[in-house]
Amino acid sequence: MWKKTEKHDRLSGDKIKEYIGNKYSDVQVCVLEETDSTNDEVKRMGHNGAKEKLVVLSEKQRGGKGRMGRSFYSPSAKGIYMSMLFRPRKEQAEDVVLITAAASVAVCRALKKTMGKEPKIKWVNDIYLDNRKVCGILTEAVTNPEDGSIGMVILGIGINCEEPEKGFPAEIREIAGTICKKGEHCDRNKLAAAVFNEVQMLYDELAERTFLREYRSYSLVIGKKVRFASKEQWQEAIAVDIDADGGLIVEMEDGSRQVLRTGEITLRLAEI
Ligand code: BTN
Repeated sequence: MWKKTEKHDRLSGDKIKEYIGNKYSDVQVCVLEETDSTNDEVKRMGHNGAKEKLVVLSEKQRGGKGRMGRSFYSPSAKGIYMSMLFRPRKEQAEDVVLITAAASVAVCRALKKTMGKEPKIKWVNDIYLDNRKVCGILTEAVTNPEDGSIGMVILGIGINCEEPEKGFPAEIREIAGTICKKGEHCDRNKLAAAVFNEVQMLYDELAERTFLREYRSYSLVIGKKVRFASKEQWQEAIAVDIDADGGLIVEMEDGSRQVLRTGEITLRLAEI
């Protein structure tokens, strides 16, 4: 159980496996002290034949990656930096686009269940607490050169647990936050295991798309005025809904609607 006074635990593969429990007892948990990026680590292991139900965590990342070529600040023992491997079957190909949205719901469920937090999702993949970004998600696909089909999907999740010693770097200081308040500690092993379990459960049900209702309920943007940019061109609209593929439906000033797809879109709330 999460306690305000609990001493900070190191990440432990055994503890994470224990918390994951029986449902996914075939999980392979790999905990590193330091790496470039857990996404890259999983990609390398995948190329060397690793199977699904692999999760790699690292205390620190030297080159943590974010969306759109950005970096993800990953100081030692202050967060959870974890990546999972999926090998979608042919019939799952069209659901792959939903993995990031499902992972957002998984993180929200895990934060709620293990820590009693009330997180929100800023489309498509940022998790917010008290108007601060506490988690980012980066999904990467590797295609088979022979036929262009998806060979592997690497899902990377970065959670800021505690404030870094010298605070966050200036570039993200106004946006980044932590799931623990000052002086609080959290059981990272328990939280990582909960995230893993929720992600796996949602992955198994991806085709049914039922989790999208939950995604909408966590949304920080639906009903709000947003600004979005594709290639530096900013436009304003109202976010109205999430479509069946996880796209954000926005209504423009003239009443027309557009669906924003993840990729090269930057989205800001117009009023925070
Ligand atoms: C974003 O906020 O743009 C996405 C950040 C994703 C960070 C995680 S941390 C674990 C995994 N390894 C990486 O290099 N990136 C992801």
